[in-house]
Amino acid sequence: MRYLTFALTKGRLADKTLEALEKIGIGCEEMHDKTSRKLIFVNEEKKLKFFLAKGPDVPTYVEHGAADIGVTGKDIIMEENRQIYEVLDLGFGKCRMCVCGPAEAGSLLKHQEMIKVASKYPRIARDYFHNKKHQTVDIIKLNGSIELAPIVGLTDVIVDIVETGTTLKENGLQVLEEVCPLSARMVVNQVSMRMEAERIRWIINELKKNLN
Ligand code: PRP
Repeated sequence: MRYLTFALTKGRLADKTLEALEKIGIGCEEMHDKTSRKLIFVNEEKKLKFFLAKGPDVPTYVEHGAADIGVTGKDIIMEENRQIYEVLDLGFGKCRMCVCGPAEAGSLLKHQEMIKVASKYPRIARDYFHNKKHQTVDIIKLNGSIELAPIVGLTDVIVDIVETGTTLKENGLQVLEEVCPLSARMVVNQVSMRMEAERIRWIINELKKNLN
């Protein structure tokens, strides 16, 4: 039997994913050691490998077949737009992709005005404004602390993840429009889905049974 390889998103998402996998009996004890800097772990008995990657790299590993299965956020899956199958909503890591800004910016979204938008997710932002709202916008890609953009006058609004809303509130911003809901998703390599259909389908079905 060949190894089935999982690419997990380093951090909280990997912890939640392992919890879900352990519930169906396919965990990896070694991964619980928080002091370890190891990036790849093997479950010899079940012939499974798990590695920890940065979220945006998970779809890349899966598309190229370096991992059979990946778990990352829907935001990343949409932004990366890779040739992979999205097979399951795992139900955790729930948050929303939103257009946010100061309250005054709300009117700019209603009148098809040319506005500036900052985002870590330029593809999602472009798709939303161009294809859904038919509004011409200038998108500026940033890598983090997106909330700064409208505060310092770089852009009118941002397209960003909102979880608790605390970051927005503490910076005098608010949700102006919701783009879409987000959560952790399982993705599968297209060839693996055929070659390892039985094992992968078993994992999907078992995880499904445990979703609450
Ligand atoms: C994310 C997101 C928001 C914040 C939302 O940032 O970009 O800034 O979390 O969470 P909240 O609604 O619970 O306040 P992250 O912490 O990933 O860091 P980043 O600024 O580097 O993107």
